[in-house]
Amino acid sequence: MTRVEIFEMGPRDGLQNEKRLIPAAEKIALVDLLSQAGFRRIEVTSFVSPKWVPQMADAAEVMAGIRRAPGVSYAVLTPNMKGYEAAKAARASEVAIFASASEGFSRANLNASIAESLERLAPVAEAARADGIPVRGYVSVVTDCPFDGPTPPSAVARVAAALRDMGCYEISLGDTIGQGRPETIDAMLAAVLDELPPERLAGHYHDTAGRALANIDASLARGLRVFDAAVGGLGGCPYAPGAAGNVATEAVAAHLAAAGHDTGLDMGVIARAAAMARSLRGEP
Ligand code: HMG
Ligand code: MG
Repeated sequence: MTRVEIFEMGPRDGLQNEKRLIPAAEKIALVDLLSQAGFRRIEVTSFVSPKWVPQMADAAEVMAGIRRAPGVSYAVLTPNMKGYEAAKAARASEVAIFASASEGFSRANLNASIAESLERLAPVAEAARADGIPVRGYVSVVTDCPFDGPTPPSAVARVAAALRDMGCYEISLGDTIGQGRPETIDAMLAAVLDELPPERLAGHYHDTAGRALANIDASLARGLRVFDAAVGGLGGCPYAPGAAGNVATEAVAAHLAAAGHDTGLDMGVIARAAAMARSLRGEP
């Protein structure tokens, strides 16, 4: 049995796109339940501009309210130094910086070119290193961009290498709009693996077209052992038209278990968290 880790994204990627402003207490309850499920890492919230993502405006309140379980890393997204300082004050266990493999999505999500966004992220990574806070990196639109079309694998490898050079301990590869196919994921990974070993990569696949599990299988075959997912299949990115949720944690865990991989998760707790996640978004 090989160990495969699921990095839980529900409270951040899952909820950031919800129209109803979810009270902080409900987000805290979800994180507290997830803390009992056996995850090593949970992405709790993001310290981004509240003008851009109003749902995450309560990031500090959520971070202050959660009950931290020993051995769990509570991660947050930080797009710039302002976000980093707030994340540090909130005692984030780790931070994540994010860049795009396409110019169109970079402009839509970060109001900057790829080069400008990397310049803005470098001081975040440097400050985190000085403070001893681990930094994870994301590359978005790794196979398909809603604005620019298919993404060349070499563009993904370039941005992944830039994030590695800044000191990211792991790079998560985002199929932001869930249009990747096993073949395009494989071609993308082939290029990225020229820059980084599989132990430093994670797959972050949205399930818009229902291919996320097949894309995970293609990634397992390339040696990846970490996948991002969200309980209840929550989510979508506000700046990626048509993006559906992250692949559901419960589906990934069951799929991995059937293939003989061990995630170390308590499926009873996961089922309760998935139900809670669905009720947060007003589903029956
Ligand atoms: P901007 O408008 O160019 O920046 O946005 P600005 O510096 O001019 O700031 C505008 C206002 O926001 C100012 O306020 C700033 O102070 C404030 P004002 O002076 O007008 O009152 N501000 C902030 N407030 C709180 N925290 C901050 C912060 N920064 C600025 N950190 C910016 C540039 C990067 C800030 C903006 O574009 C932004 O916040 N973007 C984030 C968008 C986002 O969160 N997208 C979703 C997450 S990424 C994702 O989902 C993909 C992923 O899941 C992987 C995948 O699926 O591919 C990770
Ligand atoms: Mg995402």
